[in-house]
Amino acid sequence: NETGCLSIIVLGASGDLAKKKTFPALFNLYRQGFLQSNEVHIFGYARTKISDDDLRNRIRGYLTKSADDDEAVSEFLQLVKYVSGSYDTPEGFQALDEAIAKHEICRNTTEGTARRLFYLALPPSVYPPVCRMIKTYCMNKSDLGGWTRIVVEKPFGKDLASSEQLSSEIGSLFDEPQIYRIDHYLGKELVQNLLVLRFANRMFLPLWNRDHIDNVQIVFREDFGTEGRGGYFDEYGIIRDIIQNHLLQVLCLIAMEKPVSLKPEHIRDEKVKVLQSVVPIEDDEVVLGQYEGYTDDPTVPDNSNTPTFATMVLRIHNERWEGVPFIMKAGKAINSRKAEIRIQFKDVPGDIFRSKKQGRNEFVIRLQPSEAMYMKLTVKQPGLEMQCVQSELDLSYTQRYQGVVIPEAYERLILDTIRGDQQHFVRRDELKVAWEIFTPLLHRIDNGEVKSIPYKPGSRGPAEADALLERAGYVQTHGY
Ligand code: BG6
Repeated sequence: NETGCLSIIVLGASGDLAKKKTFPALFNLYRQGFLQSNEVHIFGYARTKISDDDLRNRIRGYLTKSADDDEAVSEFLQLVKYVSGSYDTPEGFQALDEAIAKHEICRNTTEGTARRLFYLALPPSVYPPVCRMIKTYCMNKSDLGGWTRIVVEKPFGKDLASSEQLSSEIGSLFDEPQIYRIDHYLGKELVQNLLVLRFANRMFLPLWNRDHIDNVQIVFREDFGTEGRGGYFDEYGIIRDIIQNHLLQVLCLIAMEKPVSLKPEHIRDEKVKVLQSVVPIEDDEVVLGQYEGYTDDPTVPDNSNTPTFATMVLRIHNERWEGVPFIMKAGKAINSRKAEIRIQFKDVPGDIFRSKKQGRNEFVIRLQPSEAMYMKLTVKQPGLEMQCVQSELDLSYTQRYQGVVIPEAYERLILDTIRGDQQHFVRRDELKVAWEIFTPLLHRIDNGEVKSIPYKPGSRGPAEADALLERAGYVQTHGY
């Protein structure tokens, strides 16, 4: 483990992402002892001219979880400083560099190194100028070693061409090991569990393929709309916001082959390979929806075709998955808030219980809320009659791991950036293939060739999506 000065610079410090996710995650890391106060300094940077205390007061309310936290919050806030400046001119970045250097000099020890982590909580349009400024004015220059890393978050472009453009601009300034592309789904407990589940359990190995699995669903639901984010959302839509990144990352971990080892590059190599096997998406395997009232937002044009809901089938052309539909489903303003993976097995051949049987085996991994995994099995209904019933083998985290606090995705991922572990970050070639998969469909949607069907907020989404699910082979199971 490295020692020495650690400077964490949050650019876009007064924005929503910084307030709601980045600073709270840093605070939790601090409270748990992962950020030592004699080593770390946190800088907020943004255009607004405010004081250190103004910034502290703005973020304070997002940090406290209970009254017991008050002291820790105050200690943490003392580590936070503020520098103001624009995102594309030297002055602010020179001032930022001086502020960082000052802290590095006063704390530097001969065995210490200087580490600088730049977290871009900013819209991607300013990534290139900001990266250029960091590269010119704010790199770690310590003779004692150390590093400079940058953290960026989606949207990484709007399609293959714009994403590649962004990647080359950033890539001309920083090497891949310095760039951490966050997809916060990779920091969720049950997403991190997928590799263990698949490759540390003998019972799954022979079953995890087209011979036994009928279909896979990866589902994201939110019971609220785009409130306050209409302007951003309308430019992107649900496919770019959720499916092309969060759900596709989950698909990779479900479908990829076993990596050579747990080394980040070995894992990311396998993810790229499985993405390369995804075939182009057909329009008749896509249903788009838009909830009624979405265009009431003044920042959304009245004639917007942007989907707030999508169900689609991805097909993987390889030996393991040929013929198995991967159904990706995401919707805003629908009937519940949930993210889950449903792996449905084929019917039992030559089934002697056919007339009494309740349904198929299904393995469900619930990412949120209330993390759980459960397996639907057919068992004998207890009693004198020979009746079959569907029941569950249930591993619910709140029961099984009582009292264990599950870390927030951002907490874990920021810790990884400090430790230099890129396993849970998206590599440049992975991002490129992800865009290759979706760009043709996205262009057809942008041109109005694929239309969004209206649905009622709070409903299940368009009925056509359920019909698509059925066509893809999904059979509704009983129980929960
Ligand atoms: C973000 C999307 O990446 O993920 C949001 O931009 C979405 O639209 C959010 O609400 C969902 O994250 P989580 O962790 O609440 O499932």
